[in-house]
Amino acid sequence: MPEQILLDYNLMLAPRLGGHGIQPELLADAERFREAHQLVDRWRTEGRLGFFGLTTQSEIVERITRFKQDTRGAFDNIVVLGIGGSALGTTALREALRPPAWNELDDEARQHLPRLYVLDNIDPTTIAPLLERLDLRRTLFNVVSKSGATAETMAQYLIVRERLEAVFQGADHRGQLIFTTDPAAGLLRQIAEEEGIATLPIPPNVGGRFSVLSPVGLLPAALIGIDITALLAGARAMDERCRTAELRQNPAALFATLQFLADTEHQARCQVMMPYSDRLSATADWFRQLWAESLGKRYDLNGNEVFRGPTPIKALGATDQHSQTQLYMEGPFDKTVTFLTIRELTADLEIPDLYADAEALAYLGGHTLGELLHAEQTATARALAREGRMNMTIELPTLSEHSLGQLLMLLQIATIYAGALYEIDPLDQPGVELGKRLTYALMGRPGYDAPQTPEPDPRWICR
Ligand code: PA5
Repeated sequence: MPEQILLDYNLMLAPRLGGHGIQPELLADAERFREAHQLVDRWRTEGRLGFFGLTTQSEIVERITRFKQDTRGAFDNIVVLGIGGSALGTTALREALRPPAWNELDDEARQHLPRLYVLDNIDPTTIAPLLERLDLRRTLFNVVSKSGATAETMAQYLIVRERLEAVFQGADHRGQLIFTTDPAAGLLRQIAEEEGIATLPIPPNVGGRFSVLSPVGLLPAALIGIDITALLAGARAMDERCRTAELRQNPAALFATLQFLADTEHQARCQVMMPYSDRLSATADWFRQLWAESLGKRYDLNGNEVFRGPTPIKALGATDQHSQTQLYMEGPFDKTVTFLTIRELTADLEIPDLYADAEALAYLGGHTLGELLHAEQTATARALAREGRMNMTIELPTLSEHSLGQLLMLLQIATIYAGALYEIDPLDQPGVELGKRLTYALMGRPGYDAPQTPEPDPRWICR
């Protein structure tokens, strides 16, 4: 039985922080949480929370496995064309569950599995050289878009499609493409049906930022050798763990409630996620989008204008101890810090005992880098607490498919609980949609009005 991840929230609580933290009684008085729990249950029963159902999608896992078998040896590269929720989870999976610098490893080190590039942007200075470098005949392009209309993704697709046509010179190149999109709606779906391009579905009730465990993340993950069955099993275990209405037993509800209380009772509006692991750095990027886009809302569930939402920040330990920790330690009391740690690292390095007479070096000798990393995290957490700064730690037993599945599910469920606590809809993103519509207008798409903002005044530009 794989081990569970744990949430240590001692240092969020007032008795451990000289009075600055959350009063434990607020956690005991669970009325507000009970209401949130009921609301989440209702959303789930109404079928709004499709990401829960992703952990039991055996038919999709079979399809992905078949696709992997059918295309074995055909591709050296996979390029995901997508952005935001259609890209961040895939990068998080690759970074956590494949050896570092996966794309730089030689074929043998990658066990002859493909490299995986995730574009997640439209900067031509990145995309042009990548397309020049790759052998397009040995590349699979996975176009990922729930809506099938996002300007960035569609622009990437149009460029790739033209390149494929040039390389294949009239020959069939549909095998270089697979679309991951809505099962019925949208332009990508229509193109796939008209042109006979392979597809995988994103369930209609799964939004972009909740789609990492759908074919959005699972297809590229499986193709680079990640065990997606174990990933889903970990997510399923966390789902079961987080069904309880007993707040103290429910890690997702606790995470959400602690962050919510820190914000609403103590004005800790900035919520830092700080993995002490390079491998979890991209998971913190994924979480930042999940938390920001889900919780930053103008209207509450009753349509009142409320302008709610904590600000997620990403930091990396130990690197950012030398960049941001000074602010967290002595700046305004407006932050919480959540550390992500891994108890058993898959690799470690002993620090040699070379200068026995030099006091400033000798203490390092004989320890390992893993020990040093762990000590730095513990020291930072305790130092923050000594300064009255709220922080908590999510500890993974090891970094594996199962434990990452647990973590991704914990954070998704926590986001939904937080939405219920803030009384906003965590599933929509009207602000993003507005930006998309204004982009269409600026790019001349018919039917979209140009934004009514004046041109910049040259007097207010410093050249
Ligand atoms: O989480 C979201 O809904 C967004 O970040 C989307 O994933 C992003 O805007 C891309 O949208 P789409 O998948 O429709 O191309």
